Amino acid sequence: MCGIVAYLGHREACPIILKGLHRLEYRGYDSAGVALLNGELTVYKKKGKVADLEEFISDKDTHANVGMGHTRWATHGEPNDENAHPHYSTSERIAIIHNGIIENYAALKTHLQQQGHVFHSDTDTEVFVNLIEEIKKQNSCSLEEAVRLALHEVVGAYAIVVLSKDAPNQLIAARKGSPMVIGIGEGEFFIASDATPIIEYTNEVVYVNDYEIVVIRDGQLNIRSKEDVSQTPYIQKLEMALESIEKGGYPHFMLKEIFEQPRSILDSMRGRLELEAGHLNMGGFRAYEQKFVNAQRIVIVACGTSWHAGLVAEYLIEDLARIPVEVEYASEFRYRNPIITERDIVIAISQSGETADTLAAIELAKSKGATIFGVCNVVGSSIARATDAGAYTHAGPEIGVASTKAFTAQVTVLTLLAMIMGQKRGTISDTKLRELMVELDTIPAKVTKALELDAQIQVIAEEFKDATNFLYLGRGYNFPVALEGALKLKEISYIHAEGYPAAEMKHGPIALIDENMPMVVIATRDSSYEKVVSNIQEVKARKGRIIAIVSEGDTVIPAMAEFVIEVPHTSEILMPLVSVVPLQLLSYHIAVLRGCNVDQPRNLAKSVTVE
Ligand code: G6P
Repeated sequence: MCGIVAYLGHREACPIILKGLHRLEYRGYDSAGVALLNGELTVYKKKGKVADLEEFISDKDTHANVGMGHTRWATHGEPNDENAHPHYSTSERIAIIHNGIIENYAALKTHLQQQGHVFHSDTDTEVFVNLIEEIKKQNSCSLEEAVRLALHEVVGAYAIVVLSKDAPNQLIAARKGSPMVIGIGEGEFFIASDATPIIEYTNEVVYVNDYEIVVIRDGQLNIRSKEDVSQTPYIQKLEMALESIEKGGYPHFMLKEIFEQPRSILDSMRGRLELEAGHLNMGGFRAYEQKFVNAQRIVIVACGTSWHAGLVAEYLIEDLARIPVEVEYASEFRYRNPIITERDIVIAISQSGETADTLAAIELAKSKGATIFGVCNVVGSSIARATDAGAYTHAGPEIGVASTKAFTAQVTVLTLLAMIMGQKRGTISDTKLRELMVELDTIPAKVTKALELDAQIQVIAEEFKDATNFLYLGRGYNFPVALEGALKLKEISYIHAEGYPAAEMKHGPIALIDENMPMVVIATRDSSYEKVVSNIQEVKARKGRIIAIVSEGDTVIPAMAEFVIEVPHTSEILMPLVSVVPLQLLSYHIAVLRGCNVDQPRNLAKSVTVE
């Protein structure tokens, strides 16, 4: 949550910062601001999107070679101009931007008020900057030292950048629990929450670690620990193409990302599924093969869409590798007293690799001795670094807040993992494994075919755009798909939707069915097909309006459903990769027709770094 960006170099800082903020807007978009250092330390900030800030400053003097900007997802204090970042200290000689939460802000604020500091916002961030100012005054120390000492006093999560009028050519930054990456160019430096604001200027980056303080001054980058010990920056090469973070002719990132799925699924299999040689590889698995073979249990922790991918993985791993699997919401897991032993493997799934609850769940499981395997999309992310081993999903940057291609890439990687585990544990025959490998190889082409349903789905979206409720039903492997379809619709169109196991409908949701209730039933040809057909009859008998997702060539369900969407047939266990596609498109088109902001739905953020 919240995006931060900063620049120091020879170019005009403001345009670079604004462009960077647009790229980071997926992280939060309720207010935005910049601070520019040019002899004076000037802050401009505004409620609303980055575009509102741009308009606000269009007639202002923004000339500066040093500056920082912020796009906010509110935690403390409603979204308004005052609560927007950057925040000044009382003297207005220091300014800060902050991503995270300071948990002990109330006690600190009282103390600082007693020392004469004046507050203009409801934020925890304004407390942080005044704390730095107070420490600097009390200790007559440098800004850098004051920041370091302040970090010892705050409890919580932060990625901060600090500018001071008294340090005209200097950027100070620090992180704990919120992401931060430094870009190193020719005589210029960038700081951002992720690499997207940086990639068009440089591909040399340093991922800042927790408890590190970054000082950029006199053309030098220095990193020190909170204990003031110098750290050697580890410079890495970014492998990210600029086109991957632009819309490429699509009206929305979400649509672009839905249509990228044949490619992203293929990328997630690349080098892992070697059909001709008959091999399955997964680098991260190799070193922990024995742990997986002997695991007594697998616990999957994740949030949101990643949790749905985890549910698919539960079915896959139990089916193919015969290891008991539990799937937990990371936020629940971390606050109970889960039974985890050294023989357990915890799989953490996260697109962003930054979700605070998932990260905390990993730390808890680690403390109990479990082996942690990560499935992340963002390379170098906090979760990727906190795990013992893992597999990247290689879906490429996902910018639409509603996750689409990241989900199918996660499911693909988890399918491969379950297949490898089954192979190593001897719980899957060579013939079955070979069949699955052949079928998995066809999935990108089948997803391409499913995408051709777009025009048909637009017609259905038109029909149901004014609905107030939706039910999604599925069984077996299609049950998590029903949950995911409902989540997509809720997130971007604000229509209430629930996903249910089709048979459970009888225990409650059936009471909701009337002639106005749309029901999306995923009824592809699989082992529970007959049962789902019976569930459709039950809905039909109560006049529910049925939109059925069926396998190509189905002749039974078209006679019962009002709308039928035929997807290419595949093996039951691979079906989520295909059957989710029409649901993504349906929610997208409904949201567009309702005039919703598809890529930036209200109240949501792509990366949830607060608990
Ligand atoms: C947020 C996003 C969701 C995502 C969830 C988990 O709620 O809006 O799209 O599924 O976080 O995020 P992660 O990055 O851990 O997969």
